[in-house]
Parts: sequence; structure tokens; C-alpha cells
Amino acid sequence: MCGIIGVIGNGPVVPRLIDSLKRLEYRGYDSAGVAAMVDGSVERRRAQGKIRNLEAVLAEEPLKATIGIGHTRWATHGAPTTVNAHPHKAGRVTLVHNGIIENFAELKAELAAEGHIFESQTDTEVIAHLLDAELKTGRKPLEAFKVTLDRLTGAYALAVLIDGEDGLILGARRGSPLVVGWGEGEMYLGSDALAVGPFTQQISYLEEGDYVAVTRDGAEMFDASGQPVDRAVVQVSASSAMVEKGEYRHFMEKEIHEQPDSVQHTLSEYLDLVTGKVKPQGVDFAAIDRIQIVACGTAFYAGQIGRYAFEKLAGLPCDVEIASEFRYRSPAVSKTTLAVAVSQSGETADTLASLTWCKAQGLPTAAVVNVHTSSMAREASVLWPTHAGPEIGVASTKAFTAQVAALLALAVAAGVARGRINAAAEAELVKALFESPRVIAEALRMDETIRAVTQELSKATDVLFLGRGPMFPLAMEGALKLKEISYIHAEGYAAGELKHGPIALIDEETPTIALAPLDDVFDKTASNLQEIAARGGPVIMITPENAPDPHGVGIRRIDAPDCHPLIAPLVYAVPMQLLAYYTAVQKGTDVDQPRNLAKSVTVE
Ligand code: F6R
Repeated sequence: MCGIIGVIGNGPVVPRLIDSLKRLEYRGYDSAGVAAMVDGSVERRRAQGKIRNLEAVLAEEPLKATIGIGHTRWATHGAPTTVNAHPHKAGRVTLVHNGIIENFAELKAELAAEGHIFESQTDTEVIAHLLDAELKTGRKPLEAFKVTLDRLTGAYALAVLIDGEDGLILGARRGSPLVVGWGEGEMYLGSDALAVGPFTQQISYLEEGDYVAVTRDGAEMFDASGQPVDRAVVQVSASSAMVEKGEYRHFMEKEIHEQPDSVQHTLSEYLDLVTGKVKPQGVDFAAIDRIQIVACGTAFYAGQIGRYAFEKLAGLPCDVEIASEFRYRSPAVSKTTLAVAVSQSGETADTLASLTWCKAQGLPTAAVVNVHTSSMAREASVLWPTHAGPEIGVASTKAFTAQVAALLALAVAAGVARGRINAAAEAELVKALFESPRVIAEALRMDETIRAVTQELSKATDVLFLGRGPMFPLAMEGALKLKEISYIHAEGYAAGELKHGPIALIDEETPTIALAPLDDVFDKTASNLQEIAARGGPVIMITPENAPDPHGVGIRRIDAPDCHPLIAPLVYAVPMQLLAYYTAVQKGTDVDQPRNLAKSVTVE
């Protein structure tokens, strides 16, 4: 994930920006840059690769200033070159950005037609041009900023400098986090508490849609509608972000909210939004005739979601098996099968043993892992990284959606390689995937509604989760999340399987949570819910607002964002996680370290 820092102070700013950027290195990056206000106009220094390269550039061409912004970039739009590195500049505007501007192509075409010349391939540069154009109309910086923000679709955190505005940094957040740091006669903006950690522990967390004008004396904050707001100043501990909960009560809650970023970061490993194409994946999908996924727990459910995509999009037969079963049952495999281990830690004993066994049989191997130095990452011939960042909560959340994101992107790549997906379909699917950080951010707004539901849910002793298609494994994942952190018994079923047994469990005390995106099996799922409601079972149906009503007495709807069916597992994972989280909070269990569980299971 990219990192952002902004400092508006009195002393030399560049060493402070560099200090902060070094603390953000853990997020992963491939270029870095700073910009600073020198005599009323902003100058930039940027470099590909490590921060030491940027330091070398600064040693050659120093910047003496007291106001500046800095950025570590993880390439999404355009290669990790110096020209694509942030900050980006257009006219009077220089800015850094985390996130994805989904409508950048339309905006860029519009601006190009008006004569704007672009130097980079990034989506970010479009924002600089838009804001500069608004300033040229005579608007004041804050007003011009708001008008610009209103034109952006997607996810962003921004820090902006404007030539001639010597005491001002503008910031905004939607989807990607941004904090304001309060110092003595100095103010800061950062992508997290760690970014401003070297300077202050007094933090205000901006809320979704907020924007802010930061001066030496303080910060004026506004909500998405432009109303002035105050965001509380909280004291954070000076410890590292790896162990920092920030504004959140638990790591799990924090990690749930990090998903727009972690999914985006992961997708950008596999997809290129500038070209609308998949990147090379290190495996010749046309040369294999089957995929065998091995995994445990949550990673197993991610694998099952992947299976739906590999078979549908690439026509590639895909088996998914629990690693502890696979490794002991003498499976029949062929050398044209690609073995794929899916694991957050990359150390889970059964998954690792299954991978090693497949390799010994001469199968090509790949590993979707979050810890890139782990045993599985080293064992597999091909590493397919997820970029969820460190996951501290024992119950997996952002690592799961990162696995799903990677597998969906890989399934598109497989479809392209196998001639099942033409260029137009590829562009549509890549676009849909890149929309997911924004839609996940929308799903996070279900927070309050879900919290309300969990007052009742926390009293249940049994809960059913239902779904069809990729929502079936997600239902199982929802049940696992609830079980492991709230200790309530829960089961996930394929909605169509209900009549074959589980419907006997339905009574007034047993809630059913149904995952019902508006997909090609929506009507079938809705009928199953009527069957439950007719038997007195309380049903909570998570479904888009525009979905038809199933007309069942006792069916309660929770509105979810409407989305492309491909990304529904990523979007609907959020309400599942929030349900489990708030139920556990209601019950007062140890959310981050549930009883009997370990984060990495290195024993059989
Ligand atoms: C559940 C959970 C576990 C892990 C499983 C595999 O929330 O986290 O089920 O998914 O132990 O772990 P990894 O992914 O590290 O192989």
C-alpha cells in the first residue's frame, strides 16, 4: 500500500519527510518522492526503487523548505518509473495519492481535449490537472478542491500543495485512510498514525468523505457534504503500526477497514488498469489442464471461491481440498495439474506438506501467500503474492479478501491465456475488479446496520449462513468467522441444499443469514428464503437495495452495495466479517485472540 506524509512546520522539512517515508517502507513500494514549497513554488524530487535512491537525488539537488509532502508508491496505473512516481504536478498543483480513480480515463480524455498535457500514465495526475483547472477559474483552494473531489469516482487519500499557498496542505480521504497529526506550531497529514509517529502522537482520524485544510496553526475539517466538522484528537501510542490499533478497538476491526487498500494493493500485482489487461503471471495457463488448490480454514474457502472463477472464466477444471485431507489420502494427480497452495502465513503445516508432496510428484506449483519470505513462498515454483500487510487478528479478514482478489485476477488471466476471454471481456473484468476497493468501502458503511442486528444475533445458539455459487463458500467463511470469535455454533450451506436436511434445524430461535447479490441465481436463493420464513425461521437477507423483495414474512433485508457479480465475494465478505465482529463484541469475547486458536498453525 502506498504511504503518504505531509508536514507543515518551521524547521527543514525534507529530512522529516524521509524519516516518515522510511517508517512506511513496510507497506511495500517501488518508487518514492517528495515535494516542498520553495519560495512560494513547489519543487519535486522523485526516484524509482528504494528511498536511498531518493536520498541520493536529494543529495544532488537539495530542497530547502518547511512545507512538504512525500509518498511511497506501489504501482497500480503505469510502470514503477520515476515519471510515474508521486508527487504529480500540473500547473500550480502538486499532490500525492493512495487509491484508484476509476473514472480517470474519462477525465483524462476530457482534460486532454481541453489541451492538458500529461506526463505520466497514472490516474493520479488527472486529479492535479482537474484541481489546477478549477483554480484557474478563480476558485479559492478549498472550494476548487471540493469541486474536484466531487468529480472523482473511486478510492483515494490525497495530500496537496498549491504554488503560492505558502501555509497550506489540503487533504482528503475516501476509501483510503488519512490522519491529521497535531504538533506544536506544526501540523501533519499521514496515511496512518505511523507516518506521523516521528513527530506527534496526537491524531485525528478523518472519516469517509472528509477533506481538510491543514495550516501551521491547525486543521479545518469538512465532511463529504462540505459541512465543517470536528474529528476528535486522540492520543496514540508511539509503538509501531504493526502493533497499532489506531482509532479501532481491535485489530480485527482495523483489518476489516483496511480492505479497500489491501485488495487494491493485491490486484495491482496482477492487473494493469491503464491497459485494462492482466499482467503476466509466471504460469502458462494454456499448458495445464487442471488446478488443484490446497489450503486450510479461511484460505480453503478463498480457494473454493477461486474455483468458481477458474471454471467459469477459464474453463479450467479446479479441485479444492482441505490440506490435512489431501496430504494423507494418496490423491491421483497428473503432471499437467497446477498445484496451488493458498495461505496467509505460508507456514501452515498441512498446506506446506501438500505443496511439497505435489512438487515431489513433478507437478508445477504456485503459492498464493501473504508472507512472501515464508516456507511456501520459497517452496513453490511460482509465488503469487497477496499484499494484505501484517494481519494481527487471529481471525483472518483482509488476508482472506486479498486471497480472493488474487484468485479472481488469476482466473481472468487464465481465461485470457486459454482464449476464453476476449479483449473486450478482459477490459470489463479488469475494470470490475478495480472497482472493488470503492465498493468494499461502500460495504464498510453497513457497519451501523450490522451492529444493530448483532444485538439479537449474539443471543442465538445456532446460526445458518446460506448462499449459492461463490456465495456458498463465503457462507461457510461467514459461519467460520462467527464460530471462531463469538463461540456461537454456525454452519454455512449451499442454499439449494437446505431441503436435503438442514431445514429440519429451522425454528424461531435459529437465524439464517443469506447472501443474495443480484446474480443469475438470485431468484433461486430468494425462494429458499421463503421456505425458511414459512417455517417461522428469522431470516436476514443481505442483498442490494434494488433487488426484488422475496415477500416472506420474517425476512429482514440489509442493503448491500450493488456490484459486478465477479467482485460480489469481496464485497459480501465485509458484512460477514462485521457480523462476526460485532456479535463477538456484544458477547465480550477476546476478539483478536479467540480461545484455543493460533495465528499460524505449524503443527498437524
Ligand atoms: C480463520 C483462520 C484460519 C486460517 C488457517 C490457514 O479465520 O484464520 O482458518 O485461515 O489456519 O492459515 P494460513 O492461511 O496461514 O495457511
